Amino acid sequence: MKMNELGLVYFSPTGTTRKVIMEAARNIDLKSVSYDLSIHKEKKPAMQFKKNDLVLFGIPVYAGRVPKTFLEYFENLQGDNTPAALIATYGCREYEDALLELKNEVEKRGFKVIGAAAFPTEHSIARKIGMSRPNKEDLKVIADFGVQLNRRVKKSENFDNISIEVPGNDPYKKYSTTSLTPKVDTTLCTECKACAKACPAGAISMTDPKKTDKKLCISCMRCVRSCKQRARYVSTFKMNQLEKKLTKICKTDKAADIFM
Ligand SMILES: Cc1cc2nc3c(=O)[nH]c(=O)nc-3n(C[C@H](O)[C@H](O)[C@H](O)COP(=O)(O)O)c2cc1C
Repeated sequence: MKMNELGLVYFSPTGTTRKVIMEAARNIDLKSVSYDLSIHKEKKPAMQFKKNDLVLFGIPVYAGRVPKTFLEYFENLQGDNTPAALIATYGCREYEDALLELKNEVEKRGFKVIGAAAFPTEHSIARKIGMSRPNKEDLKVIADFGVQLNRRVKKSENFDNISIEVPGNDPYKKYSTTSLTPKVDTTLCTECKACAKACPAGAISMTDPKKTDKKLCISCMRCVRSCKQRARYVSTFKMNQLEKKLTKICKTDKAADIFM
C-alpha cells in the first residue's frame, strides 16, 4: 500500500514512552506528525487519520491499565480502518490488561492493529527499579520493532489478513493506584509555574502552584521532574515503602514482548 503519514499519539509524563516511540518511529520510512498528550489541554485536539496513514500509540502502564488521562483524548480520535501499532512501557512489574485495553479502545475508533509491544523500562516512581532502561540492548529491540512495522506496511496491499492477539483480561483489572501526590517544599518553590504548566492532569493551580488538587493528581511524577528548584518531592517514608514493595515484585531483567 502506498502510505501517507506516520502519526505518533502518545502520553509520556516522564519521557520514557516518548523515547521508546521515537526509536521505533526512526525506523519507519514515513514523515511523522506527533500528538504529545502529556500536557493538559482544555481543548482536546482533533486526531483524524486516513486509510493509508500508520499510527503508533504509546502509553506508560498505570496499575496494569491504560492511563485514564490518555483515554480522555479519544473522543476526538478517528481512524478509517487505519493501520496502527501499540507500544506500552512498564516499570518491570507487569503490564496486565494495558495492551488489551489499548487495542480495544483504538479498534472502537476505526483502527486496525497490525503490531503491538510491551517494553520494560525504568519505573517512573521508584527509579532504582529498572534504572536507565531502555538501555542500549533494549533500544536495539525497540528499533527492530520499528523495522518490522516498516516492512509490514510496505509489503502489504491491505491488512485484512493480519490479526494481532495480545495478553490481558476483559473485564479489565480494577483501576487503582496508590496516591502519591508530590509535596511542595515552600522554602524552595519560586512559584515559576513550570510544574503547573507541565501537569498532564491540570491538577496544579496556575495562580498558586504550591497547591495541588489531590483528586485530579495522577501521581505521574512529571511535576517532580520538571521542577528545577527540586521543590516538589514524594515523602521519603512513602517512597521507601513503595520501593520495598516494588523491589519484591518487579523483575528488572524482563525482556520485551513483541506481537506481530
Ligand atoms: C501512577 C503509576 C502507575 C504505574 N503502574 C505500573 C504498573 O502497573 N506496572 C508497571 O510495571 N509499571 C508501572 N508504572 C511505571 C511506568 O509504567 C513506567 O515507568 C513507564 O515507562 C513511565 O513512562 P513515562 O516516562 O513515559 O511516563 C507506573 C507508574 C506510575 C507513575
